[in-house]
Amino acid sequence: MNKTVLVTGATSGFGKAIATVFAQNGYDVCITGRRAERLRSLKMELESAYKVSITTSCFDIRNRKEVEDAVAVLKQSHSTIDILVNNAGLAAGLSTIDEGDVDDWDAMIDTNVKGLLYVTRQVLPMMKEKGGHIFNIGSTAAKLVYKNGNVYCATKFAVDALNQAMRIDLLPYGIKVTGIHPGMAETEFSIVRFKGDEQRAASVYRGFEPLHAEDIANTVYYCATLPAHVCINDLTITCTNQANSAHTIKDAERVNK
Ligand SMILES: NC(=O)c1ccc[n+]([C@@H]2O[C@H](COP(=O)([O-])OP(=O)(O)OC[C@H]3O[C@@H](n4cnc5c(N)ncnc54)[C@H](OP(=O)(O)O)[C@@H]3O)[C@@H](O)[C@H]2O)c1
Repeated sequence: MNKTVLVTGATSGFGKAIATVFAQNGYDVCITGRRAERLRSLKMELESAYKVSITTSCFDIRNRKEVEDAVAVLKQSHSTIDILVNNAGLAAGLSTIDEGDVDDWDAMIDTNVKGLLYVTRQVLPMMKEKGGHIFNIGSTAAKLVYKNGNVYCATKFAVDALNQAMRIDLLPYGIKVTGIHPGMAETEFSIVRFKGDEQRAASVYRGFEPLHAEDIANTVYYCATLPAHVCINDLTITCTNQANSAHTIKDAERVNK
């Protein structure tokens, strides 16, 4: 029987690439997100390309009842989830704390922290019997706060704390917990942050090659396929032009171009 992976936020970016790499390698994948049409077309694409089963589950991760209902439905078709990738998340806005939009704060806290907790809480009973692996997608923003990043950074610091906490709490069940902390990657992340302003979003990545979603997907897959006794706890991954969440250079600034 194929192993099963549940990937939250699989309608774009990292989540879509992660779902794809696991499907390519023969895993059954449960894909989630709010955009039903994208879930449907990814299911068709992956099932026709690879001999795997793709289950779609459309819900808003901020809504506890929707999460509980969605995982209850998954339990009817899947006896176990071997790997959970807590990926769904967003940054909304970029401003000083005194000018921050409180609705943006709610969206980030509810999605990045509470949503991750809701899903994990519901999935864990399916994992505890046989063990498993949880990936939490943090960020370089979980390691160093950058200017105007305040609440987004706070949510990712929380994810980093939860990685550590889960690793302790889940030791008796043989459940691995891996924190993946990407730097700048050109997904829909900046389009969402800047509320659909595609030009502003593209300008974030101008002048250097950022990470690609596949770079993160391949890293998750690597960590997931290590021997049973090995767990990578924490990985920070940036493109070569980025040192941390506050320091990135353009190619033109390199001495050895
Ligand atoms: N790209 C970067 O530079 C970067 C760097 C570090 C960390 N990250 C983190 O990586 C993760 C993935 O981001 P990405 O770059 O792949 O961005 P993305 O392309 O915008 O993808 C975000 C995914 O999260 C889902 N999502 C957002 N809010 C949701 C909600 N309320 N309910 C359910 N699903 C929701 C979206 O699906 P729907 O819209 O269909 O719901 C989408 O599939 C996030 O946690 C982000 O913070 C990104």
